[in-house]
Amino acid sequence: MAEARDPSADGTAPDGPPFDGVVYQVYPRSFRDTDGDGVGDLAGMRAGLDHLASLGVGAVWSSPFFRSPMADFGYDISDHRDVDPLFGALADVDGLIADAHARGLRVWLDWVANHTSDRHPWFTASRSSREDPHRDWYVWRDPAPDGGPPNNWIRHFAPEPAWTYDDATGQYYLHHFLPEQPDVNWDDPGLREAQLDVLRFWIDRGVDGFRADAIVLIGQDRTYPDDPPGTPPDGRGWFHWHPSTRGHLAAARRVLDERGAVMIGEAFLEDVDAVLAHVGDDALHLAFTFQLLLAPWDATEWARRIAEVDAAFAARGLWPAWVLSNHDKPRLATRVGSRARARAALCVLLTLRGVPTLYQGDELALEDAEVPTEREVDPGGRDGCRAPMPWTSEPGCGWPDPAWLPLPPDAAALSVAAQEADPASALHLTRRLIALRSSHEVLVRGAQRVLGAADGIPDGVLGFVRELGDARMVTLAEMAGRTATVPAFADGAWVVRIGSDGAAAGEGGTFDGTLPADTAVVLERA
Ligand code: GLC
Repeated sequence: MAEARDPSADGTAPDGPPFDGVVYQVYPRSFRDTDGDGVGDLAGMRAGLDHLASLGVGAVWSSPFFRSPMADFGYDISDHRDVDPLFGALADVDGLIADAHARGLRVWLDWVANHTSDRHPWFTASRSSREDPHRDWYVWRDPAPDGGPPNNWIRHFAPEPAWTYDDATGQYYLHHFLPEQPDVNWDDPGLREAQLDVLRFWIDRGVDGFRADAIVLIGQDRTYPDDPPGTPPDGRGWFHWHPSTRGHLAAARRVLDERGAVMIGEAFLEDVDAVLAHVGDDALHLAFTFQLLLAPWDATEWARRIAEVDAAFAARGLWPAWVLSNHDKPRLATRVGSRARARAALCVLLTLRGVPTLYQGDELALEDAEVPTEREVDPGGRDGCRAPMPWTSEPGCGWPDPAWLPLPPDAAALSVAAQEADPASALHLTRRLIALRSSHEVLVRGAQRVLGAADGIPDGVLGFVRELGDARMVTLAEMAGRTATVPAFADGAWVVRIGSDGAAAGEGGTFDGTLPADTAVVLERA
């Protein structure tokens, strides 16, 4: 077998990732409800910390809980320095940070730097007159000669203009998302400092890091050119990323470095070089790599994407940050077609080179809820993946009836309590995977090589090896829905550390080369 590429071979690579644990995303509305209003809260997040500690994750990233009119469920912030009463109060955040730290968990918040709510005092001032000192904190442009929007940009969530006309001052303002989420202008020094102050405020309160929302959009081409004809409306706004973002990130990085905090960015870009344009010592520590979240369930495609991403990051001494689900996309089990496959994917996610992020409920292999039309609430059609997390197997699973969204399918059977009692559950699998990662340095720091036919990997199977010193581990995942045999790893020298299909079956024994349909194994060279 050829040697795996050593990312530190050129001497420029750091010897470990900027964060060496697993990240767990909490979507606060749907994590845990303690006051019985059907919406999760900060007290619920605190109550759920033991669950996270028992999983073995290293950081909890919470989606926004700041004051918000909730047009985009918190991604429209009207006060960055206060908690929305729906979720609790500032004292609850202090308590959350203290409780998390007591359990060895870092706390990362969502930094929504590209836009605010239209009810934020900054925007209220900005729209009040063309002369207001806050005018340039947002992006105002005159109408096109025909009176229409300044360019042909389309916003997210609906094929409608990314500009809204404001009668009072006779100009349009830009919003890549909802009209209730005006884009801020990072070229304005006052705005820039105010956004950096948001970081300082939370770090000084004890926060350890941030997930930077829609971060690639903060630098903008101030000439606002039209999108070329034929640009598909879906997601087209992400392609407006602009090189000036890097300079803004450098300013943010100085604030983070002064205080020892880290930042992982949402760079929702399929092009790996475009993602990399935002990562480095003078930019983001990490950027989510969405290439597998966007990939069909196909071994060849996953192998290609993993190899491409890893090579590009490793060549620059950087670390990918893999993610398979979040609060914006269909859940893993729904997307890949079954819970068995979702479990196999967990084995891949948690053994890849890079920083993995789990979305709440991934550890339960939850599917999206079916949300009847009359209960749809999200303007972006993302309700299904935001269904409440089932904690108990009682009716309601720990939530009042109705909760803000319907529960996911088989909620009682898949609840934390039910899975706790079943050693073959996804919950126990996730725990074993994270424990394996924590106890095997090779899975954190080791070099990686994607395996192919020359290594004895059959069609329909994804395989990769991690190597550090003498340690070698291999992950194999069957992705074609039929039993595969992989004799290359059945020479008696490979021990099964984890099997995705439960009950720790075969774990600890030597691998016999059989990989049942839709399963994965993690092997260690004895
Ligand atoms: C990011 C968030 C998404 C939100 C959008 C606007 O993509 O993940 O939930 O709607 O930014 O803030």
